[in-house]
Formats: sequence, structure tokens, C-alpha cells
Amino acid sequence: MKYGLGLIAVAAITAVAGTAAISDSNADKAALAAVKARQSQMTLYAFNIGLLGGMAKGNVEYDATAASAAAANLASLSKLDQSRLWPQGSDNETLGHDVTEALPKIWAADSDIAQKGMALVEAATAMESAAGGGLDSLRGAMGPLGKSCGSCHETYRQAKN
Ligand code: HEC
Repeated sequence: MKYGLGLIAVAAITAVAGTAAISDSNADKAALAAVKARQSQMTLYAFNIGLLGGMAKGNVEYDATAASAAAANLASLSKLDQSRLWPQGSDNETLGHDVTEALPKIWAADSDIAQKGMALVEAATAMESAAGGGLDSLRGAMGPLGKSCGSCHETYRQAKN
């Protein structure tokens, strides 16, 4: 089951959300550390997809080895266990808009962030197969991959202005 880890990792967000309470400064520190860690993971997503996007647009010369490496990184990153990255109380209403862009509805009962995380795992895994197979192949996998990032951001991220 190739996608299992990612699914479990993202689904675990909900489980952790029920138990973590931000009631003292140690808990605040833990929440801030989690925010920093998840933003760092996002930065690594952006760094790797940046190369693929540059090649797709023709701004960077296509290189099968480099494209495959970036796509493999992205696929691996998407499957990391994220269960400690999204503690309840680490949204932008609680911690402040200057600290995090994560909207409270990530933790709402009807949140589908786990599915959106799965969509990224699937798109990144498809890109991992496609990236080394030529520029057209890479371009074909780019749309769904970009959409998987954008779709989650649209719903669950409030970009800083
Ligand atoms: C499952 C939801 C989800 C997916 C999928 C997702 N993101 Fe994010 N992203 C977020 C959320 C939520 C934040 C805000 C995190 C915070 O500030 O605590 C964010 C923040 C970011 C940031 C800002 C990081 C910072 O330092 O503030 C970047 C860059 C980013 N995402 C890039 C990406 C890219 C590129 C992809 C796809 C390869 C992606 N994201 C996929 C939810 C997602």
C-alpha cells in the first residue's frame, strides 16, 4: 500500500487535535515549534516544486536526473509523518496572524485536510514517475501537482498580506 503512510500521517492530525491543550507557556513553545516545523516542510515543498515548475515553463533547462531527484524529494516529503505538526491551538486566531497562516477550520469537525494531504501524496507520486520521462511527461504531471498545493491553500491557509 504505497500511499498508506501519508494517509495515516495526515489523518493523525485529527487524533492529536483532541488531546493537545495549549494552556501554559511550555505548550505554547511546543505549538510554535510545530508551526516552524510545518512551515519548513512547506518551504521544502516549494523549493523542490520550484525546479519542476521552472523546467515546465521553460525557464530552466530540462534535466531528467535533476527533475527526478526533485520529484522524489517531493514525494518523500509528502509522506512524512505529520502527526505532531498540527496541534490544536496552533491556528492563526490563537497564535496570531504574524506567526501562522493556518486557519482554525483545519481543526473543525468537517475538515477534509486529510484528503487534501492525500491528493498531494498522489500527485507527487505521479510526478515521481513522470519527471524523468521527458519534458512533456513532466508537464503532464505538473497541473495536478500544482492544484493539490493550491486547493489546500485556498481552503486552509490565509496568506499574509
Ligand atoms: C494539506 C494542506 C496543504 C497542502 C497539500 C500544501 N500546503 Fe502549503 N500550507 C498549508 C498551510 C495550512 C500553510 C500555513 C502553515 C502555517 O503558517 O502554519 C501552508 C503554507 C505554505 C507555505 C508558506 C510557508 C511559510 O514559511 O510560512 C508555502 C511556501 C507552501 N505552503 C507551499 C506549498 C507547496 C509548494 C505545496 C505543494 C507541493 C503545498 N504547500 C501543499 C497547507 C498545505
